[in-house]
Amino acid sequence: MTIDTLGSSAGEPTAAEAAWTRCLQDAKRLSRTTLREQFAADPARAGRYTLTAAGLTLDFSKNRLDEGALDSLLALATAAGLPSAIAALFAGAQVNNTEERPALHTLLRAPRGSDPRSQEVHATLARMEAFCHALAQGHWRGFRDERITDVVNIGIGGSDLGPAMVYEALQDRWIAGLRCHFVSNVDPLHLEQTLARLQPGTTLCVVASKTFTTLETMQNARAARAWALAGGLAHSDLARHFVAVSANVEKAAEFGIAPANIFPLWDWVGGRYSLWSAIGLPIALGVGMANFRALLAGAHALDEHFRTAPLRTNLPVLLALLTHWYYHAFGAHSHAVLPYAQNLQWFPAFLQQLDMESLGKQVSRDGVALRGDSGGILWGSAGTNGQHSFHQLLHQGTRLVPADFIAVLQSASSQRDAHLQLLANCFAQSQALMLGKSREDAQEELLRQGMGVEQAKWLAPHKACPGNRPTNTLLLSRLDPGSLGALIALYEHKVYVQSVLLGLNAFDQWGVELGKVLGNGVYRALTAGAPCQGFDSSTAALIERARLGQ
Ligand code: F6P
Repeated sequence: MTIDTLGSSAGEPTAAEAAWTRCLQDAKRLSRTTLREQFAADPARAGRYTLTAAGLTLDFSKNRLDEGALDSLLALATAAGLPSAIAALFAGAQVNNTEERPALHTLLRAPRGSDPRSQEVHATLARMEAFCHALAQGHWRGFRDERITDVVNIGIGGSDLGPAMVYEALQDRWIAGLRCHFVSNVDPLHLEQTLARLQPGTTLCVVASKTFTTLETMQNARAARAWALAGGLAHSDLARHFVAVSANVEKAAEFGIAPANIFPLWDWVGGRYSLWSAIGLPIALGVGMANFRALLAGAHALDEHFRTAPLRTNLPVLLALLTHWYYHAFGAHSHAVLPYAQNLQWFPAFLQQLDMESLGKQVSRDGVALRGDSGGILWGSAGTNGQHSFHQLLHQGTRLVPADFIAVLQSASSQRDAHLQLLANCFAQSQALMLGKSREDAQEELLRQGMGVEQAKWLAPHKACPGNRPTNTLLLSRLDPGSLGALIALYEHKVYVQSVLLGLNAFDQWGVELGKVLGNGVYRALTAGAPCQGFDSSTAALIERARLGQ
């Protein structure tokens, strides 16, 4: 389903409907040309469609776009109320209307004094700083008076993906003598295998949960506590080895975390937007508070760009409009994010939660069924690995999959030549996706290689690539805390703009609840001795098999 029927509602079309009708007309017009032709006709195209903000450069020239289409898309954004929606986000309006909350992740990275509301944020940052210092200097010690050498973050979803991704990305800044580990899965092997390498006396567990009720996290936290107690700690020693980050101080204290060890979080911080808060504690511990503050500063620079730049030169706005355009006017169902940086290997997984938990909704903010599709499927992995896996489908599959390539110009490695190979592959992939190869060219090439005419004719369609596949390229000078902060904020705001275009709430996630509730019922059935009742025959049979263990 697409929203190409938007213009045909009963009565006078709204301004947004009229703008979208123009977008569809532009899409139709542009489908009569190709990117290859557009580049050939306009040597200045790349320069015109390349912008830099907050240290990030976006080349969006390899998109099905021209000035007319850009005008139409920007008119759509205006008609959808984007300027006031951006202002509402920063002002702390209740953009999360089903939970009656603002979504103030931008406040978490606002510099001290820039906003009167940021006092408690900075007080918490100061606490984090003191804690990081105590650990790094060896003032905070384990129950046997040893230094803490390992931090285990126990959390899931937003309380895991962001910190884990950033920690991995900034590994050239890891503090010597301290390693962070991330345990999220309720699969007991995740915790067991992690703890098997660690000593209770030198390990600090950070129980990270906004609600402090999440089943997986609670289960793992209890198991970690049992491991610590079995490893020689007395109950009174737990305070040296367990801290928590939570908005639910009561529950954290009930679990047994010493009140002085609870770092606060606020209900106006959504889980998937929380790495900037004390949920980022493992980042701060792992790379140092100065680097954590640089991460916040990078995100803030992008916030300021998003808040103040005209829509036409606004990076998150442009990225969102393009994705919206491909999903709803060109029938794309998914979007690939391909960081050409091994240290960004977890970035697509992080973005998956950000994007799909935010935009996977079926109704508008008013609870009315969406007239077209919601957000799509975000996926991807680090290049060049993907080239030897799924890129085949990008080049020759019948589906349109727009992609973002992310490249880092200066590597932390001294192996310049290998890094140039990486960049060459990155740039060549978007070039190949754009240019493609015609059947005629493929045939010519085969003939030149000495193949017979009939065989070349037969093989050519297999070798031809349609091209005209849209991509963005994002350039970072270096992968450092500042550029990473800006990159993450770029996608956060992109998602928000998409939500405004779709008219939905990006900050709730009610769909996750059903699985949680049913999961409890299945767990009760699995652990009860009684015959399994009240389930469909498939679920009942699966439960029986699990009880038997075979
Ligand atoms: O998966 C649903 C979810 O609510 C996410 O939005 C959230 O990031 C995750 O669970 C973890 O929640 P908590 O931090 O409350 O444990």
